[in-house]
Amino acid sequence: MSATILVYDQDADRYAGLIRLPPRRSAEVRRARNAEEAAPILGDVDVLYAWKFPPALYAKAGRLRWLQAMGAGVEWALTPELPAGVTVTRAPGIFGPWIAEYVVGWCASVTQRMSAYLEAQSQRRWLSGVLPDRLRGKTLTIVGLGDVGRAVARAARAFNMQVIGVSRSGGPTRGVSRVYQPRHLERALAAADFVVLAVPLTAATRGLVGAIQLAAMKPGAWLMNVARGPVVDDGALIDALRARRIGGAVLDVFAIEPLPADHPLWSAPNVVITPHVAGPSTPEELTPIFNANLARYLAGRPLRHIVDRSRGY
Ligand code: OXD
Repeated sequence: MSATILVYDQDADRYAGLIRLPPRRSAEVRRARNAEEAAPILGDVDVLYAWKFPPALYAKAGRLRWLQAMGAGVEWALTPELPAGVTVTRAPGIFGPWIAEYVVGWCASVTQRMSAYLEAQSQRRWLSGVLPDRLRGKTLTIVGLGDVGRAVARAARAFNMQVIGVSRSGGPTRGVSRVYQPRHLERALAAADFVVLAVPLTAATRGLVGAIQLAAMKPGAWLMNVARGPVVDDGALIDALRARRIGGAVLDVFAIEPLPADHPLWSAPNVVITPHVAGPSTPEELTPIFNANLARYLAGRPLRHIVDRSRGY
């Protein structure tokens, strides 16, 4: 089998440069950095290797059979415009280790009182009255136990944190001492010193954390969102932060990105805002996964890491 592959990303050249064809197989690799560059090519394309492909363009891609998503979340790909016959694949195993370091790093920044020492330092003040705390024994609740959530669990266990989780099935998960089903979300939140949201954005997770869930958290607990902005009700979070009903929030994702300069989250107390960097996509990490599946595709073998379009992940 031969194929025309379109690499769609602002860094398309770097991704395309790492594509490797298996011996005796042929494929043409095209590149587009934006919709204007993609539009004229799409009629020939069998395979898309893309990040945030514009849904309106699917109508021009009549030959498209397979979309390999760059990035951890795939909700941008699963739009109604995506033709039913297109298989979507993801890249498990890449993002978990990055996000695990992000989560443990920010948990440690809280227990190590980093902001207090940095502030004191900026004022040349010797802050001897404030001591760091330990991660050991702190409870981390991970909402979403996919490959990202499980990587976070492993990292947290290495620091002897107590890990509990929430998953759709509520089934046992290695390294997680107790797993709740979503209907018991508030119970899982109430136990946490840190809550990490690592769920895909689906109809079931949109608005999952609102005023009721924030009220269930301990007063000193921190919320970390590495999932998608709309999983959290921003208004409820801002209220909870302003009223000091929770310890704080570390947010990497937002309903609108970039977060507008006048958004009230910027000035909410005890909030850390990072610009959607917790699990970066790199051509060097992603393309070997694409190449392995491309070899299968060209050999007519079933693809791996297929997204269940009805579940949304
Ligand atoms: C994502 C990513 O999907 O950054 O959010 O990869």
